[in-house]
Amino acid sequence: MTLQLGDIAPDFEAQTTEGTLRFHDWLGTSWGVLFSHPKDFTPVCTTELAEVARLKPEFDKRDVKVIGLSVDPLADHRAWAGDIAETQGHALNFPLIADSERRIAGLYGMIHPNASDTLTVRSVFVVGPDKKLKLTITYPASTGRNFAEILRAIDSLQLTAKHSVATPVNWQHGEDVIIAPSLSDAEAAKRFPAGWKTLKPYLRLVAQPR
Ligand code: BEZ
Repeated sequence: MTLQLGDIAPDFEAQTTEGTLRFHDWLGTSWGVLFSHPKDFTPVCTTELAEVARLKPEFDKRDVKVIGLSVDPLADHRAWAGDIAETQGHALNFPLIADSERRIAGLYGMIHPNASDTLTVRSVFVVGPDKKLKLTITYPASTGRNFAEILRAIDSLQLTAKHSVATPVNWQHGEDVIIAPSLSDAEAAKRFPAGWKTLKPYLRLVAQPR
């Protein structure tokens, strides 16, 4: 069955480039991003893994642990890691799961047989501290992901988990947000005493809560 938002992210034990781990224990109380790669020694994946390594301090700042997955053995991951560092200038600094039996890929529905029987699609699962799925994204093998967008979405997820707000189109951290439509004006006045701008009764903009 397809995993849906709000479901518990399936737990698993995995061999990774940083040793064997159990997913939920490894996450601890942090947020997590699990993302799949179709195959080792492929060009788009090489650029993506290096980009996540470059952005690792941004994930750390948000208390988000990142973990990649590719359906190849650990020895291949280790050899590929050398290529990634050599060609991209950023070495792997997070675990990459060796899922050569496609056990975890199956658990998360990362194989889409009508796209490919053997390679995973480019899945992204954002997991909250409660281990529930907060966001999923699926890209085809031929399209590299935008990890700045994933960080932007995490900023929104973390903000809206704490405050009764939603974030508008193209929102970036620090910009005005939308008061949740479920909040009455009377309730909003208590939470946002500095006030807000009403464009329509259902569209009320307020400074981003800190
Ligand atoms: C890539 O990562 O470059 C790739 C992988 C599978 C199919 C197409 C491209």
